[in-house]
Amino acid sequence: MAKKSIDKWQYGDFQTPMELAQKVVEVLKRNHNIEPDVIIEPTCGKGTFIRAAYQGFKHSRILGFDINKEYVNEANSLISNVERVSIKKADFFKTDWKKILSRQFGYILIIGNPPWVTSSELGILNSKNLPEKSNFQNRRGIDAITGSGNFDISEWMLLQHVNWLLDRKGAIALLCKYAVARKVMRQVSTEHRFLGHIYPIDAKTHFGASVDACLFILITTNNGNADCEVYESLDSTKPDHIIGERDGFIVSDVALYEKWRHLRGQDFRYLWRSGVKHDCSKVMELEPYEDGFKNGLGERVILERDYIYPLLKSSDVGNGRSDSFRKVVLITQQSVGEETLAIKKVAPKTWKYLLEHREYLDKRRSTIYRNKPEFSVFGIGAYTFKDWKIAISGLYKRLKFNLVGPLKGKTVVFDDTVNFLSFETESEARFIYKLITSKPSFEFLDSMIFWDDKRPITADILRRLSLKELAKEFGVLEKYQYWARTPSATASGQLVLSIAEQKSHYNTRASS
Ligand SMILES: C[S@@+](CC[C@H](N)C(=O)[O-])C[C@H]1O[C@@H](n2cnc3c(N)ncnc32)[C@H](O)[C@@H]1O
Repeated sequence: MAKKSIDKWQYGDFQTPMELAQKVVEVLKRNHNIEPDVIIEPTCGKGTFIRAAYQGFKHSRILGFDINKEYVNEANSLISNVERVSIKKADFFKTDWKKILSRQFGYILIIGNPPWVTSSELGILNSKNLPEKSNFQNRRGIDAITGSGNFDISEWMLLQHVNWLLDRKGAIALLCKYAVARKVMRQVSTEHRFLGHIYPIDAKTHFGASVDACLFILITTNNGNADCEVYESLDSTKPDHIIGERDGFIVSDVALYEKWRHLRGQDFRYLWRSGVKHDCSKVMELEPYEDGFKNGLGERVILERDYIYPLLKSSDVGNGRSDSFRKVVLITQQSVGEETLAIKKVAPKTWKYLLEHREYLDKRRSTIYRNKPEFSVFGIGAYTFKDWKIAISGLYKRLKFNLVGPLKGKTVVFDDTVNFLSFETESEARFIYKLITSKPSFEFLDSMIFWDDKRPITADILRRLSLKELAKEFGVLEKYQYWARTPSATASGQLVLSIAEQKSHYNTRASS
C-alpha cells in the first residue's frame, strides 16, 4: 500500500467538509444555546472546524492542534492575522493537556472530528499512533475500553475530553461512529455530569465511509444521567427519541420501552437458543448433489441420512427463505459432550467420512473442542431436534420471525447466528408465532435493539420478552397456560439449562 494511503488510514485522515462543520456550529447555537469562551479542536487537520467556529462564535478564543505539520501550516494560512486563533503542531497522545487546560478560563467547547481508526487496525499497520500503555492506567473508563483488546482511538480521545470537563463547565461536540458515542454515553452515565445528544450524519456522503456515524454532543450539567437525546437529523430542533438506562439495560427508545415495560420477564418454558456451532463448514456443511452431497472442499460424498439435517443459515432466515434449504449439516451428537463412537455402527460411511477429514476438525482452534469427544459440535440439545421452530437471524436489521417446520421429513437446524425457539407441535408453534409477531412484541423488542450493532438481535434481548405477559396482553393467558401445562416441556428437556445458562437466566430475572 502506498505511504500516502497508509498515513491516511493510521491518522484517520478524513477532513470534514465546510458545510458540515458549519451545520455543527449552527446546531450548538440553535438547539443548545452554546456560547463558549474557549474552543479547542484537538485534531484540527486543515482547520475546517476552526474556520466554522471562528465564523459562528464571534467572541471565543480558539486553539487548534494537529499532528500533521502541513495541515497546521494550511490551517494557519487560511486564517492568518487573527488574534483569537492559535493553531499548533501537536501529537494528541504526547501533549500536556493539563497544562493547556489550566490556562483556560470560562466555558470550554471541545469540537472536531477525531481519527476513526481502531487499535487493531493500527496494529496491522504497525503504527504507533496510539496512547502510551502507561497512560491507560488510572483514568476513568479507559481500562474498560483498552482491556477489551481492540478499541476506537476516537473513544479513547473522547474519554480524555470527558476527563477535562469533569470539574469545569463546557461541552464536547465531535463527529464519531455511532457505536463510539453509545459506548462513551454508557461510560459517562455514572458521573452524572453530562447530558448527551446524538444527531445522525451521513458518513457515506461526507466521508465515503460505510459506517453509522453521528454528531455526538455532551454538555456538562449538575444532574446528568444515562439519557441521551437522539435527533432525526442536524436540521431537527426537537429530539425524536431518548436512549437511556432502564431496569438495568440500556434501551434504544425509552418512551417505547416504558409503554411496553410490563411485557418484560422470562418464561421457563420458552427459552431462546442459538443454532449449531461446528467451526468447520468445509466438512460439516454439504450441498445436496445428485444422489449424495458435495462438501466445501468440492468433494462428492455419499453419506447415510441419520446424522444429516436441513440447514438454514442467517441469510436464509433473514430473507424469509425457510420453506426450502440449500444446504444440510452433519450433526454428530444429540447433546453436548455425547460420545460420538456410536456413529461408526449406525452410519459407517459417515464415520469413514469424518475419519478422512479428521485433520480439518482437529484443527478447530476454539478451546471448547478441547477434551471433548472427537468430531464434537456445540449449540445442541433436545431443543435442536424438536420439529417446529420460530427463528430469527441475529445479523439482519429487521424483526423477521420465521415459522419453520420439518423439511423433507427432518427437523431443520440453524447456524449459530440464528436465534430460535422450538416446539413439539405445529399448533403450539403457531400460537406463539402469532404472539411474537404482534405489534406490542415488535415495539417492545424494537425499544431495546440498537440496529447499528453488528449482531443487533441477540438471544439476551429476545429473552427479556415474556410470552406469558404477552399472552395476558391479548387475553389468551389460558391458552398459554394450556401449553405450559403440557408435560412435553420438561420431559423433552426444553427446560434443562446448563449451570451457566441458569445463572444468566436468574440474573436477568432478578434485574428486571
Ligand atoms: C478525521 S480527520 C479530521 C480533521 C479535522 N478535525 C476535520 O474535522 O476536518 C482526523 C485528524 O486527526 C489528526 N490526527 C491523527 N492522529 C493524531 C494525533 N495523534 N495527534 C493529533 N492529531 C492527530 C489527523 O492528522 C487528521 O487531520
